[in-house]
Amino acid sequence: MAPRSVKIVEVGPRDGLQNIKNIVPTHTKIELIRRLAKTGLSVIESTSFVSPKWVPQLADGPQVLTGLQAIISTSDTISFPVLVPNVKGLELACHNGAKEIAVFVSASEGFSRKNINCSVEESLVRVQAVATKARILGVKIRGYVSCIFADPYDGPTKPSQVIKVTQALLQAGCYEVSLGDTTGVGTVAEVELLLNEMLKVVPADKLAGHFHDTYGQAIANVIKSYDMGLRTFDSSVAGLGGCPFAKGAKGNLATEDLVYTMEKLGIQTGVNLGQVVAIGSWISQELGIPNSSRAGAALAVH
Ligand code: HMG
Ligand code: MG
Repeated sequence: MAPRSVKIVEVGPRDGLQNIKNIVPTHTKIELIRRLAKTGLSVIESTSFVSPKWVPQLADGPQVLTGLQAIISTSDTISFPVLVPNVKGLELACHNGAKEIAVFVSASEGFSRKNINCSVEESLVRVQAVATKARILGVKIRGYVSCIFADPYDGPTKPSQVIKVTQALLQAGCYEVSLGDTTGVGTVAEVELLLNEMLKVVPADKLAGHFHDTYGQAIANVIKSYDMGLRTFDSSVAGLGGCPFAKGAKGNLATEDLVYTMEKLGIQTGVNLGQVVAIGSWISQELGIPNSSRAGAALAVH
């Protein structure tokens, strides 16, 4: 029998850092990604090419990518996608050496307007334009759907809306769509309800789980999703992060917690837990914030 395994998409340098108020030095961001690249991770989302006025923390995207060029251009086992909201972001990312991007669309109107200043329909048109250009440039695209369970402004999200946006992203050319519980409010009951409907029309291998851990539900939601067929999960070292446009939302599931749980379940991640724990301790110290990973904090003192 083939060993059971999952793919982890590390989003700390992007989703994690975007919510840190004090500007993190560019060299620290580059060092974080360099260290993560030695742990066995195969995908590290590295920065954003969004408006610097909207997310000042990631205004140094060009410098971060330039600083990583030696790794990006020589590594054929690790990809370093960057988040882009429009064609301008795509062009800037490519100009600075990106080979893969991630686009993002909300399943709900309120968050779409607050996050990217347009409606869901308009954002899908933008994504189509980005996808067309990315194809010409030979750049891979991953997609995100935000607010899969609830929107901080509009309340609960209907599964049918999440499915519609997911299908639109796949049709536009995304190789995979990551389902984002942006505010981390979902529980296993909501995961089951959504995936029961979603998996009737979208294959599990086209989906990933992106669970923020605001209410401590993320690891349970991963296990439920795994049991229902998903094999790719996003996480953030030290549980860094949140979204500046979803007030109160905490960081993603911590990478240390995800690797720890998977190892205990006999599911391979290819990621070295001890090394990620050390990176989680280091970056928390650099940022002067508590380590949000339960496993990370526990293992760091052993
Ligand atoms: P806008 O103000 O409507 O844009 O913002 P605009 O087209 O009118 O342009 C305004 C200015 O921004 C112009 O500059 C543009 O050139 C510039 P000015 O003429 O004023 O000097 N601009 C850009 N600059 C750099 N890079 C760009 C870019 N685009 C325009 N790509 C926009 C619209 C989409 C740009 C803005 O709302 C934005 O950047 N939003 C990004 C917000 C964001 O990054 N949110 C967090 C990420 S999403 C997330 O965390 C959820 C996720 O993790 C999944 C989950 O958890 O659910 C992915
Ligand atoms: Mg997120």
